[in-house]
Amino acid sequence: MATTTILIVAAEAFPLAKTGGLGDAITGMARALDEADIAVTVLLPAYRGVRRQLQRVRVAAEFAPMPGGPARLLQGACPRSGISFLLLENDALYDRAGLYADECGAEYPDNGLRYAALAHAAVRIAQGAGGLPRPDLVHAHDWHAALVPLLLRAAGVNGVRSILTIHNLAFQGQFPVEDAAGFGIDAAWCNEDGLVAWGRLNFMKAGIRYADRVTTVSRTYAREILTPAFGCGLDGLLRARGADLLPIPNGIDPVLWNPVRDPHLGDLRFGPRDLGNKALCKAALQKAFGLAVRPDATVLAMGSRLTEQKMADVAAQVLPAALDRHPDLQVAILGQGERRFEQRLRALERAYPGRCGAHIGYDEATAHQLHAGTDLLLHGSRFEPFGLTPLYAMRYGALPIGSRVGGMADTIEDPGPRAPLSAMAGANGFLFDGDSPEAMAGAVDRALALRGQHVLWRAMQRNAMTADFSWRSAVTLYANLYRTLAGSHPAGPKLLPMPAASASLAGGSVLAPRRHAASSRPAAASL
Ligand code: ADP
Ligand code: GLC
Repeated sequence: MATTTILIVAAEAFPLAKTGGLGDAITGMARALDEADIAVTVLLPAYRGVRRQLQRVRVAAEFAPMPGGPARLLQGACPRSGISFLLLENDALYDRAGLYADECGAEYPDNGLRYAALAHAAVRIAQGAGGLPRPDLVHAHDWHAALVPLLLRAAGVNGVRSILTIHNLAFQGQFPVEDAAGFGIDAAWCNEDGLVAWGRLNFMKAGIRYADRVTTVSRTYAREILTPAFGCGLDGLLRARGADLLPIPNGIDPVLWNPVRDPHLGDLRFGPRDLGNKALCKAALQKAFGLAVRPDATVLAMGSRLTEQKMADVAAQVLPAALDRHPDLQVAILGQGERRFEQRLRALERAYPGRCGAHIGYDEATAHQLHAGTDLLLHGSRFEPFGLTPLYAMRYGALPIGSRVGGMADTIEDPGPRAPLSAMAGANGFLFDGDSPEAMAGAVDRALALRGQHVLWRAMQRNAMTADFSWRSAVTLYANLYRTLAGSHPAGPKLLPMPAASASLAGGSVLAPRRHAASSRPAAASL
């Protein structure tokens, strides 16, 4: 029973465009909502190569004038995800090597304009552009789409409500106030009461201020961002909107990230009841990362952006000492990010031949194989709005060592070092507090000690592999929210009929091997 139509606006959607968890979350969410018979369409920039991945593409509307120049709205369906898409096509803005940055990692100087144009397109769709059915609600994600609620108001669009979901508050989309006219933002909004913060336009602020509801992706992060330590300067505004702020934790895609069916594992698939092939995945990983092929070694993996958010600096400090303390420890690193961290991890590989392998780069298949082959995943974060990676590891029988922040505090179960050892039978990973090397090293030592306790280790692996991290509860919460907000708006047809229901994303390629959504410096944040 389709009752409400939702336009999701985002900068990423796997497999069309992904640099990190945002792309996974948008696709996982859209698919889960669709399966629950909620009509969703995703509006995405027509980045290079995206159009040809859609089927039944047609021009739905022409937009002129538009910030950044005339643009076309394309409509099509993604056969691999089954999701219906609207693409904003303007090659001058979007036909580039990376999503947010060039091949050398330099952010595009016109990112403000690129995502302002996306927000304007959303508003025109909400106004019924091209005869498309108007959505009841626009669901904007992160700073890239966060202008939408303000622009809906500025355009006087009635009957279309808005939600902003915050995936990462550290990236806010900050630009000079002088750019406002070029972004199609009237001067009346350009003050501290509107979207200006610290003397600059701030897209995230606009979204938080003007969306009908603001959500974020875990319960703990929803509390954390109300504090100065995690609020990146916007905690005051978030507290002011407290009544309209709610957590809706993400899920993980159960088809894409499933060791029983994962095509990236070839013949070496396994499940919670039969872990036999995990040993073979481990041997394959050891080989691929230049580690000695030793079944008795404990492999500890890292798979993430190499940034301060992900404590790459702390890991680079902790790992050599851990390798010295534990002769049976091996380290496999898959990551990309800041050059200084990449260099330190490469140096570690040189210093510990056969015991440490670092793949600096971005590769979707290797990420799957990493989780399948490793025993442990080290995932320190100074803040972690949700944290999909530790959940992927768990699904593949690898136990996460994470910091007690955001989504990791909610999903990793660890009774702690002071509880009796037997309590670990109910655990699924290891948590540490803060960002000190001592805390991270202590958690690594605890995990390696547990590795010798075979019965407990197996119990933890079972807990990790069978935990329900699906999108089910998120869908119920989103559905309730949509229903509440859409209120009495009449039901409408889907913007585009779905292709075959069996569509699968498995075997996806990586489109955008560059960095996480950045486009502007993280706000004046302590993190
Ligand atoms: P974030 O979105 O903050 O980076 P998440 O853990 O929520 O963190 O999501 C990260 C996503 O990016 C996961 O799908 C992970 O597999 C992927 N990823 C991160 N780094 C790499 C890499 N170097 N190669 C392939 N995939 C990566
Ligand atoms: C962001 C966050 C990450 C979260 C992802 C999806 O990139 O850093 O914690 O899992 O978005 O919501």
